[in-house]
Amino acid sequence: MDLSSRKTLFPENFTLNSDELAFYKKHTGIQDEEKLKEHIMDVAGSALEVYPYYCIRSFGFLRFRIIRSKAGYKKLLELCSTRQNALFLDLGCCFGNDIRKAVEDGFPAEKTIASDLYAGAFFPFLCVLFIISMQISGNSDTSYSILPRPPFRFTFISGDIFDSSFISIQPPLKTLTLSYDDNTEPISYSRLFKPNPSRWTSSSHLSVIHTSAVFHLYDRDAQLLIAKKIASLLSPLPGSIIFGSHTGSKVPREVINQSTQMKAYRHSPESWKKMWEEEVFDKDKDMFQVEAGFEDEIWMSWIVTRL
Ligand SMILES: C[S@@+](CC[C@H](N)C(=O)[O-])C[C@H]1O[C@@H](n2cnc3c(N)ncnc32)[C@H](O)[C@@H]1O
Repeated sequence: MDLSSRKTLFPENFTLNSDELAFYKKHTGIQDEEKLKEHIMDVAGSALEVYPYYCIRSFGFLRFRIIRSKAGYKKLLELCSTRQNALFLDLGCCFGNDIRKAVEDGFPAEKTIASDLYAGAFFPFLCVLFIISMQISGNSDTSYSILPRPPFRFTFISGDIFDSSFISIQPPLKTLTLSYDDNTEPISYSRLFKPNPSRWTSSSHLSVIHTSAVFHLYDRDAQLLIAKKIASLLSPLPGSIIFGSHTGSKVPREVINQSTQMKAYRHSPESWKKMWEEEVFDKDKDMFQVEAGFEDEIWMSWIVTRL
């Protein structure tokens, strides 16, 4: 990619802090910094042809959004050692860097699930970015799974959050109904996605759900719908969490999203908490704790914990 195409495609400077640099060197195997930058820009440039998300143009995808939410990330790492069969979903994973980071820090890869709109869209770029081979099973863009080959083996499942056959809204479970999540039986991927490999079963409860830079793409009603849907997937075991981060506002307001050019809503930490407590959980709100706050001027991080 020549310099002028780079400048047009990427309005922000390419930077990596020392932790990020070490991580990308290690996982791409490219030690030369100029070659590494070239490689990442090539991958990001191709991904922009799929959809021009600002987080790709600004290299935000390299930043490990998952560690922004310190409380959530700490609990994620605790859960993988205290709950034997804890399953972790990253919804709206894009390249899947956050899963890669969690696996690097100790979450068992085989218990992680990355999900995004289309399997053929961003996820293959993770494999290109980290130069890993993958195995594809299934027969169409909406139903195949991608399993990167060992040693980095996790599952990718494609689907649109708004598609009710992909995720349907269920009231929070009062008790555990599946044995794979109760510390006694090993997780079974085929059981989780029975009978259709690209549809969550009604009782697909997960111990950890993370989603970053997804809610802020949508308007208020759509955000409420997403919240209800992901709440339906959470395990009823105390300590299970949903967490993430996205751009917020001190005063809630409508904006035009930079990536989609569509109407979007910026919650404040207070309005975000109120939405979950009063509109997502309503009469069940005593079963959950919702916390939210700003990480910096723009990014709001949050965590919902099952009590
Ligand atoms: C702005 S990117 C954020 C990616 C990543 N989580 C991060 O923090 O860098 C938003 C991601 O959400 C996915 N996404 C947007 N709408 C979605 C939907 N309706 N269903 C599933 N994924 C969606 C996009 O394809 C994209 O990968």
